[in-house]
Order: sequence, then structure tokens, then C-alpha cells
Amino acid sequence: MSWVGVMSEVPAELVERVRDSRHLVILTGAGVSAESGIATFRDPLTGLWENYRPEELASPGGFTADPQLVWDWYAWRRQQALEGEPNAAHHAIEQLERLLPDVTLVTQNVDGLHQRAGSQTPLELHGNVHKLKCFSCEADGGDWPADPTEMVHCQCGGLLRPGEVWFGESLPEAVINGAFVAAQDCDVFLNVGTSSLVYPAAGLPLVAKQSGAYVVEINPQQTPLSDQLDLCLRVSAGKALPDLCAALAA
Ligand code: OAD
Repeated sequence: MSWVGVMSEVPAELVERVRDSRHLVILTGAGVSAESGIATFRDPLTGLWENYRPEELASPGGFTADPQLVWDWYAWRRQQALEGEPNAAHHAIEQLERLLPDVTLVTQNVDGLHQRAGSQTPLELHGNVHKLKCFSCEADGGDWPADPTEMVHCQCGGLLRPGEVWFGESLPEAVINGAFVAAQDCDVFLNVGTSSLVYPAAGLPLVAKQSGAYVVEINPQQTPLSDQLDLCLRVSAGKALPDLCAALAA
């Protein structure tokens, strides 16, 4: 096992690595939006998958069995995302994008909070809860209807569904390919607020590590990847990322 630094403060080495980075990749997960009041998936008690069944609510089979149940659940999650405000972590990431020469933001989050903080083009691996697409022909279904409880049909007659990637579905090819190319190319990789349990996203830090990047986890909890990375910061994203920005600006 390689030696891993586990710290609760942003160390000088990380600040220097980020300051000198040619290409920084940031991968975010639900923990980055936790401080905006949006539930994560696997945190004990509050995680969505602690209280709901993914196969009923986030799978093609679940939608076929009970489309209205799935629609209503996503209407609730979309409302939660609309009510949440970008937090200090989202704003710090947007600041890093402006400060550094090349930053690729890859997110598993579907809430749109990175964009609302000003990040222009995050690679959304798992789609976006604010968009719709046709369950039959997969055509773009535009935005949600004014009455978000009302299910809508596509021109082809199929039902529209939320634009999130469901269990058993492939990730958008151009997006996941772009993320792997960035992971191979980067010299610093920040793995932030993700349990690193869901692949292919969880493979990105390892690809970066194998390609020679300095890979850092920012997460109050350990993950299955922790002991393979260069540094683990056991603090919240809303503290670590603004601290990093402040140190870069000093
Ligand atoms: P998880 O809920 O699996 O993990 C959230 C992680 O965030 C945990 O490791 C927490 O310790 C950490 N965390 C909580 N609060 C934090 C904070 N303030 N700062 C930093 N970290 C914090 O969420 P994801 O890893 O994003 O997929 O889940 C991956 C995918 O599984 C999701 O995109 C979703 C889900 O099923 C789809 O829906 C396709």
C-alpha cells in the first residue's frame, strides 16, 4: 500500500501542486451539494438510497412499472435542486476555473448547482434533473412543464422522462470519453464529495493516478479509493475548497 497523507487542513504541498498545475481535473459527487441542503445517496440516515429503492425510482424497469411514481419523485428532487443555492464549494470551484490555466470539471451531480455558481461547461456524467427526454425515441424533451406534476408526451407519442442516467443505462458517450481523456492528461486531480462506489466515475481518479497525476480526496469519510491516493483531506468540500482558493490568492 502506498503512503497516503490524511489531513484536516489544506497542506502547502497541495497549494503548490494546484498553483503549478498545467491541467486540473475536479470530479464532484453528491457531497459537494450536501451543504446546499441536497440529500446525498449513501450517507447513513439521510441518504436517498437509505430511504428509497433505486430499482423502483431510477431504472427503466421502475419507470415502465409506475411512470407517475417515478415522475413525482423526480419532480420532488428537481424542486429540492431549485430551492438549493450553490454553496462555498461550488463557488470555489468556479474561482479555480478562473484562476488556473486549464480546469476540467466533471460531475456526477444532476442538480445544476455548478452551472448556477458560474461553471460554464461541467461534464455531467449522470445527466441533469432539469432536462427531459423521450423514454421511447430518446429525443430531447426540453424543460419541465409549468405544472411539474403533469406528465408530458413526446411528439412520437412516448412519455417524457427525467434526463438523469438510470441504473442499467449507459453514460453519454462523448461525456464519459471526455472525462477519461481529461483524467489521463491532468497533473492534479481532486476527487471531491463522492463515495467512489459507482463506476465508471470512480475509475477516473485511478486513471489519473496511473497517468502520473497527484490525486487528492476531499471527503470527511474514507472511501474505497482512499489508500491508493496521494492525499486525503478529511474536511467538508465547503471548507477545503475555499481554503485552497484563499491560499492560492495569498
Ligand atoms: P454518495 O451519496 O454515494 O456519496 C456522497 C459522499 O459525499 C460520501 O462519501 C460522503 O462522505 C461525502 N460527503 C458528505 N458531505 C460532504 C461534504 N460536506 N463535503 C465533502 N464530502 C461530503 O454520492 P455519490 O458518490 O455522488 O448516480 O454517488 C454516486 C452516484 O450514485 C450518484 O451520481 C447517483 C447515485 O446512485 C445516479 O443517479 C446515476
